[in-house]
This record gives sequence, structure tokens and C-alpha cells, in this order.
Amino acid sequence: MEEGKYEQTLVLIKPDALKNSLTGYVLSQLAEFHSGLRFAGARIVHVSRMLAEEHYIEHSGKPFYPALIQYLVGNVHYAGARWKRRVVAFAYQGPDAIQRIRDRCGPTNPHVARDTKPGCIRALGTVVTLKDEQGNVIGDRMDNLIHASANLADAEREIKLWFRPTDIPPAMRLYAAEACRDEFYFVKDGRLLTRFEEGSFCLVAPGDIVWASDLAVLRDLAAGRPTAASLAAVAAKYMVNSAEEP
Ligand code: GTP
Ligand code: MG
Repeated sequence: MEEGKYEQTLVLIKPDALKNSLTGYVLSQLAEFHSGLRFAGARIVHVSRMLAEEHYIEHSGKPFYPALIQYLVGNVHYAGARWKRRVVAFAYQGPDAIQRIRDRCGPTNPHVARDTKPGCIRALGTVVTLKDEQGNVIGDRMDNLIHASANLADAEREIKLWFRPTDIPPAMRLYAAEACRDEFYFVKDGRLLTRFEEGSFCLVAPGDIVWASDLAVLRDLAAGRPTAASLAAVAAKYMVNSAEEP
């Protein structure tokens, strides 16, 4: 493998870690000296519902999904300080990056993490019992401080979901990027447009460097062809921090 072209993996410092001032702790656990991995990208993200839902799309429809989305967008930990709602997203790069970071995170459930792998990052998390308005238990939420990609395919999907190519130094990029030549793509109310309309958001304009897979999806969508991904999966990263979520 060419030097510098190792695996990449997406790490999210979730709102509970930010609220508890554990960002520095988590980063020190993942530091290059200990992990052999290095930063390829970093972004502070006010997480839109669209981005959260795309990120955890594999869990869509499961009983814990609504609470998971509320957690990731920051509504749970920053209910009283909405302006603080954010996560920190990192792309880490290095040999065996995916498994090395998953090992340091530990099991998904913080109670299991404490029991079976004391000292792992998620051992500092918690499980919150959820109740309805009558006080009946309706489920639980795992506040586990950190997300880490589970495999190579997830890592590629997730890094492209959270980062633009230009968030990552060119020599560290693993996935094909392309300069947009003469196309414009806008989004408005969940619809793709190729011309500006009042209230639309410009996703891509000539000269922008974008993931080649994003451009393929936008071209297919504009031509009415079947697409490899949804508009939301492409649009979310370009719209990061563009507006406050209600
Ligand atoms: P992530 O790194 O956050 O993706 O966690 P993971 O890969 O260890 O687990 P997974 O992708 O299966 O689940 C994603 C998130 O959903 C977890 O971090 C948990 O917060 C939540 N979750 C997963 N399984 C359950 C479950 O059985 N019950 C509840 N309440 N939450 C779950
Ligand atoms: Mg996962």
C-alpha cells in the first residue's frame, strides 16, 4: 500500500462527550502516539435531522431510532442551550484504522463496556431509561460518547457523508474527487434543481471539487435515472452549518 494511503474511518464526538468535556480525553485515547493513526479531516458540525437520519439509516424503523436521532442532533444534551448543539467529526487515517478505533471505543452499550472492557472510551457512557408521559418505560437510549465506522464500506459512505473532499488534504484523500465543470445543482424543499430559485441552496457549482460519486448521483437525479444514493445523502454535507435547525 502506498505510504499515506491507509484505511480511513469516521469518528464522531457525540453531544454527550462534548457536554461532559470529554473531547480532549477521547482525542488523547486516539492520539497517534498510542493508536498509530492520524487526522485526515476535522469538522465542527451542527447536525441537521437530514444528516443524522442518513448517518444512522441502517437503524431506521427500529424502536430506538427516534431517540438516537434526537441524541445525535443534540436535542437531548443541549435542550436548554440549542446554540451549543454540535458534534465534532474526524476522519482518522492509518493502518487498520477501523478496527483500532473500534477497539478503543469498546462495546456499544456503556453498561456492557464497563463490565467487559473497563477503561475503554464507552465505559464512561450511560444508558438512559425512556418513559412516556404516564411514566411507563418505553425503551432506552445508549449515550456512548463516540461513533466509529464499523467496516470499510461504512467508512467510505460515512466519510463522504460528513466531509467534502476539500476538508481532507489532497494527498490523504482515498476516494475519487472531481472538479465540477459546467453544472450547477441546487436543493430546495428536498428537490434537486439545476437553476437557482429563490430560497434554494447551492450544492455544487462549476469549479467546486466534489466526490465523484456525488456528482454521479446528482447527474442521475437530474436526468431522472435511478440513483446509487438519495439526494439527502449527497446534499447533507454541503449544507452543514448553513442554517440553524428548528
Ligand atoms: P455507532 O458507532 O454509534 O454506530 O455504534 P455501534 O456501531 O457500536 O452500534 P450500532 O451501529 O449497532 O448502533 C448505532 C447506535 O444506536 C449506537 O451507538 C447506540 O447509541 C444505538 N443502539 C444500537 N443498538 C441499540 C439497542 O439495541 N438499543 C438502544 N436503545 N440503542 C441502540
Ligand atoms: Mg455503527
